[in-house]
Amino acid sequence: MKQSVFESSEIAGVTLQNRLIRSATHEGMADEHGAPTEALENLYVQIAKGEAGAIITGYAGIQQDGKSCLLNMLMIDRDDLIPAYRKLTDKVHEHGVPIVLQIAHCGRQTRSAVTGKPTVAPFSVKDSVFSESKPRKLGEEEIETIIENFAAATQRAEQAGFDGVQLHLGHGYLLSQFLSGHTNRRKDKWGGTTENKFRVVAEIMSRIRSSLDSYPVLAKINAYDTRPKGMRIDEAVAIAQMLETAGCNAIEISSGVAEEGLSVMRGPNPPVQALFRSHFKFRTMPAPIRTISTPFVRHTMRPRIPIRGNNLEAAKRIRQDVSIPVITVGGLHELTTISSAIETGATDYVAMCRPFIIEPTIVRRFREGTQTASRCILCNYCVLMGEMNRMKCYYGRLPKKEQ
Ligand SMILES: Cc1cc2nc3c(=O)[nH]c(=O)nc-3n(C[C@H](O)[C@H](O)[C@H](O)COP(=O)(O)O)c2cc1C
Repeated sequence: MKQSVFESSEIAGVTLQNRLIRSATHEGMADEHGAPTEALENLYVQIAKGEAGAIITGYAGIQQDGKSCLLNMLMIDRDDLIPAYRKLTDKVHEHGVPIVLQIAHCGRQTRSAVTGKPTVAPFSVKDSVFSESKPRKLGEEEIETIIENFAAATQRAEQAGFDGVQLHLGHGYLLSQFLSGHTNRRKDKWGGTTENKFRVVAEIMSRIRSSLDSYPVLAKINAYDTRPKGMRIDEAVAIAQMLETAGCNAIEISSGVAEEGLSVMRGPNPPVQALFRSHFKFRTMPAPIRTISTPFVRHTMRPRIPIRGNNLEAAKRIRQDVSIPVITVGGLHELTTISSAIETGATDYVAMCRPFIIEPTIVRRFREGTQTASRCILCNYCVLMGEMNRMKCYYGRLPKKEQ
């Protein structure tokens, strides 16, 4: 039967009023302990009133060395954070919208200057964007702790009233680093074959399932990247199938890692000035050296093609090979494109990120017909300025001075 955008449906028993999901978006609206603030509550209530089918939170850290170097990440590493999250989920539920907590460990895509801990990864391969130096290769016991902490974070999410968790397996963060041959060069049981690279995720899933057998667990994966020996679509299909076998309830399809430049969130112009303003390497750089670096930065940040809908083909392919729902994200900002992707069966759901930043009530506007496309201009300042500021829409203009 043909699916349509504004019909209700279920993912693992959770009802969504339509097929448009707010994709995970780091908001920088946690307090110093990683608890959600009133500002975040207000934002989510706005999105819920705006009729999003479901909200996926910004990534929440499962342990301190995996904390983001972007400002004020959510954390879910302690039981005493549960009441603040409970308040948040209660407020969202008043509007009948499900809310899912995305849980993550940043691995090598963070900085020890921010986390206060050594940066760790499956293998000691330096990240050219984030790390000050090579990350330390994780030992057996540390991998066990990470598995345990993902499971503990899921239990906290359930106690806090979230309708599910989403494991962040994409965008070059720790679990994505395990899955990619570029960053996982281990020769032990955690590296080599796809089964071995997936083992850490399989262990997390089985640890979660041992105490929460039917709690919704979603995953966001990379369908591809362009790193040597990195993720390719055939392996992503195998990973999606392994996720289904492991008991995952829905898969969101994304792509790209930070080192590639702007491949995760694409745009027509390299946002060089925003990068110079916010990134730790450039912020304090003398002006003449910045000038010399500009052509290199422009090249790294060059537009990736296609700018819109770049994960749709991969999602279509993956959807043919799994029977759990597929969510697609990435430059799907126009209602006609979204409807066609859902109606033709390329994807079951569409997730959006930047459209909700400029217009938190975008879904209601689509439904009412007052708007048919997001007004986002893809400047990407929202993400680049995240090291310094809370998430907001800059609409292609940088403030004269940081507030
Ligand atoms: C400001 C900002 C923050 C983001 N934070 C996250 C995040 O916490 N977790 C995640 O999986 N993706 C994150 N993303 C990526 C988005 O979820 C999404 O995959 C990407 O922006 C492409 O979708 P879009 O074209 O609808 O914006 C972020 C993107 C932006 C712009």
